Amino acid sequence: MTDPILVTGATGNTGVSVVAGVRDRGLRARAASRHPDPADPDAVAFDWADAGTFPAALDGVGAVYLVAPVGAADPVPMVRPFLEQAATGGVRRVVLLSSSAVRRGEPGLGEIHDLVAGLFAEATVLRPSWFMQNFVGNHPLAESIRHAREIVTATGAGRLGFIDAADIAATAVVALTAREPVDAELLLTGPESLSYADAAALVSDVLGVPVRHVDVSTAELARRLTAAGYSAEFSAVLAGLDERIRAGEQDFVTSTVRDLTGCPPTSLRHFLAEH
Ligand SMILES: NC(=O)c1ccc[n+]([C@@H]2O[C@H](COP(=O)([O-])OP(=O)(O)OC[C@H]3O[C@@H](n4cnc5c(N)ncnc54)[C@H](OP(=O)(O)O)[C@@H]3O)[C@@H](O)[C@H]2O)c1
Repeated sequence: MTDPILVTGATGNTGVSVVAGVRDRGLRARAASRHPDPADPDAVAFDWADAGTFPAALDGVGAVYLVAPVGAADPVPMVRPFLEQAATGGVRRVVLLSSSAVRRGEPGLGEIHDLVAGLFAEATVLRPSWFMQNFVGNHPLAESIRHAREIVTATGAGRLGFIDAADIAATAVVALTAREPVDAELLLTGPESLSYADAAALVSDVLGVPVRHVDVSTAELARRLTAAGYSAEFSAVLAGLDERIRAGEQDFVTSTVRDLTGCPPTSLRHFLAEH
């Protein structure tokens, strides 16, 4: 595969490492975002809200890493025309970043699973658990650790397989570049299933200060997310996902990262210590 690989969300949690991983293999990655790096000759200005940016991004591309518009409760109206243009223009392979909490056909991201499977001969859907990156940077969870020494969720004692975005990216690079397509939905997790109380204990240990888990109702979490700057609609979607963790639906680990990349996924303790 010598055509460039278009990486959307190229400045984001997974996109940065996908661009680097593709280039490490000697292949061309076109880095697409609203803030293209002026020092990168293969970066392109791309905005989901401006279909006029699609043709230059897709020009000559053979494969696409797809990060749907983040923060949009319904990304389909923006993503559908892009994917139709990609299919018409000769893109053969799409690797979609979705979520372990989103099933094929569900409104929003789940509809995009159907779109990529219907439009492209080679389609892979990555369904990772929650990102370890939520504990650092400017994510509301990280802000709450910093300012209140609290991790506030609506997950109860529910457990989940937190994953490092770098491990998702490594898996994406395999799916984008493998000679034989990885035609599947891949559930991706880190090495262990943990509750947010377990995670709070690890954060406390690594920081050397007590951080506690606070369990709230779904409605209260949605209110807090809205106060943190998310739209009311998207806050409701995010808070609703916590109910699935509470119900035990996300309490599993998979060996997919190791199976595809040959490397074991990062543990939360190691990730926190590194960051
Ligand atoms: N966080 C989690 O725990 C988690 C778990 C499972 C699945 N996911 C999924 O992972 C995906 C990525 O989430 P994330 O939080 O890690 O975000 P992210 O990839 O770190 O950031 C979003 C990326 O998209 C780009 N972007 C945002 N709005 C855009 C627009 N209008 N047009 C073009 N590019 C745009 C941003 O670049 P610019 O700002 O430079 O344009 C950035 O590169 C989401 O679909 C989410 O549902 C997240």
